[in-house]
Amino acid sequence: MTEQTTWIGTSWKMTKTLAEARAYARVLAGCDWAPGIRPFVIPPATAIATVAEVLSPGGAVLVGAQDAHWEDEGAWTGEVSVPQVKDAGARLLEIGHSERRAHFAETDERVNLKVHAALRHGLLPLVCVGETAQQRAAGAALDTVTAQVRAALAGVPATTRVLLAYEPVWAIGEHGTPATPEQVRDVVTAIARVAGPARPVLYGGSVSLDNARDLLDLPQVSGLFVGRAAWDAGGFLALADLAAQPAPQAPGGPYS
Ligand code: 13P
Repeated sequence: MTEQTTWIGTSWKMTKTLAEARAYARVLAGCDWAPGIRPFVIPPATAIATVAEVLSPGGAVLVGAQDAHWEDEGAWTGEVSVPQVKDAGARLLEIGHSERRAHFAETDERVNLKVHAALRHGLLPLVCVGETAQQRAAGAALDTVTAQVRAALAGVPATTRVLLAYEPVWAIGEHGTPATPEQVRDVVTAIARVAGPARPVLYGGSVSLDNARDLLDLPQVSGLFVGRAAWDAGGFLALADLAAQPAPQAPGGPYS
């Protein structure tokens, strides 16, 4: 039987104290994950070390950082570098989330620099891409997203492991509308054409227990990247349980 990898992950964005982060991580640390489920948690930078310590280095749950600078060190007040988040226990680096693109001048060029920085230090990049509502209304969803992927992966060898997440801007957050399975299928298919078939593509944007099954059943989708619905450990586990239930096989990629 070929083992399929389904990624289930959450970014806590700018939430959680250290005590809350520790309590959440302890719940996950006590879990037996179903075969094929690849869980990851991306705390705020302040909590990476705490969460990584609870989840133990090399454990089943990958710990990530929500962002890091492309330079290794220097006079960049307020920033943290890839070596620093790695030192704190991050093994994955989220790059290019739409909230960073919208509010923190995260350009395609910077996304690419950060992908290279992550790879230089052995972190798994998780590159987020997605179109705005205006771009979709203008019929530019596929062009926008494929251009973001192309730019992010510039200079990255085709065999290098990179995770991608399709996160339409209009689907994210409390005012978001989840994308339909058809919309996700079309964009993720286009992403895979540019990124290569071996690179897992996750979906994120108002994922909940209500829509997770339909999204996971898409053969193009290799997992879910969840915000609010996984901000408590019970929500995370419920989604991981759902993902572990039998479903049509997806091309999850070779990374586990
Ligand atoms: P929500 O699931 O809260 O819409 O957030 C998704 C997201 O941005 C994950 O990175």
